[in-house]
Amino acid sequence: MASITLDHLGKSYTAGVDVIRDLSFDIKDGEFMVFVGPSGCGKSTVLRMIAGLETVTRGRLLIGERVVNDVHPKDRDIAMVFQSYALYPHMTVYDNIAFGLQIRKMPEPEIRRRVQEAADTLGLNDFLDRKPKALSGGQRQRVALGRAIVRNPSVFLFDEPLSNLDAELRVHMRAELSKLQRRLKTTTVYVTHDQVEAMTMGHRIAVLRPCGSDPNVTNLTQVGTPMEIYDRPANLFTAGFMGTPKMNLLKARLADDSAEVLLYGVRIPVPAALREVALRHKGRPVVLGIRPEHLGLAHEIDWASDTALSGNVEILEPLGHEVIVHFDVQGQTVAGRLRSHHGMPSPGESITLQVRCEAIHLFDPTTEKRLE
Ligand SMILES: Nc1ncnc2c1ncn2[C@@H]1O[C@H](COP(=O)(O)OP(=O)(O)OP(=O)(O)O)[C@@H](O)[C@H]1O
Ligand SMILES: [Mg+2]
Repeated sequence: MASITLDHLGKSYTAGVDVIRDLSFDIKDGEFMVFVGPSGCGKSTVLRMIAGLETVTRGRLLIGERVVNDVHPKDRDIAMVFQSYALYPHMTVYDNIAFGLQIRKMPEPEIRRRVQEAADTLGLNDFLDRKPKALSGGQRQRVALGRAIVRNPSVFLFDEPLSNLDAELRVHMRAELSKLQRRLKTTTVYVTHDQVEAMTMGHRIAVLRPCGSDPNVTNLTQVGTPMEIYDRPANLFTAGFMGTPKMNLLKARLADDSAEVLLYGVRIPVPAALREVALRHKGRPVVLGIRPEHLGLAHEIDWASDTALSGNVEILEPLGHEVIVHFDVQGQTVAGRLRSHHGMPSPGESITLQVRCEAIHLFDPTTEKRLE
């Protein structure tokens, strides 16, 4: 097993154009680390640099204690699973899984033992003699996993391995993969642009974004446990990216005495934890963050509040166990969460939702950083 260290890592495909800039953080031995971020932000590029499939332009990459910038992929003791499973169509499932070990000239009994163990783990026993074309997407995906597992590598790298699967199978495989990783305790880096996968699978998440042309901006916006990132997003990017539905981010102002956030006519008391920082920003514009689950109908909520937001309903999204309501507050659309269908207003009608004031977030509109 092994840790991975990114030390001021940088990548340019074209001279002068940074795709990855100044990326620094550690992935611990045995950790399940998820890279999440919008399309094109460089997730696959970083993963491919760790795998050795892309050169490192700047900085250092370490696996364990060893700098691997110039180490050949096959000498890095890693196994990678791609979105396209890239199985050999003319080989059986058994041979697909065994192939990597056969070319390493591993003794046949040991290969058989490892393939059998992987097949048991992944529920592939009934398919070992089949060719990939006679398998479902989920079964093929498990074969690709099996091929990685039998290598018993120090590091697993996954690049959106579930994105070809239908929704139900994705949820199933997501849980299976998490269980497998917890059992094997192999250091894992998992790339996805699906923030539900990130929240549910990772020990920690690194939220990435495109670094753009500003030399002071790196791709990393935040790294932390799923709940750290959800409960205390470090900046507007993370706040807006993690969470479904998204956090409401509203233009507001701190009162001159800093005790309240002013959102149009509504005065939201600043929670105790934010009083000190609010004092430093008194009278200034802020971005007010409220998660939809912290806005609810008075008779449905289980928190005390005499602060409410009102507006006309734009759309309702019934999800079965809850309804997301989007309503207009002075031209800004706000999402809230209703618990039941009973007495639900129709589009065009007005609605009033109570604010869970102690759960609000404040951001500086200029630096985009969390105030705390
Ligand atoms: N071989 C290449 N040559 C030039 N530019 C590249 C190359 N590979 C990737 N890029 C660019 O680098 C940026 C990051 O690409 P990358 O594939 O790492 O993104 P990603 O975060 O994995 O996106 P997605 O979620 O769509 O897979 C993109 O702007 C992409 O166009
Ligand atoms: Mg990618």
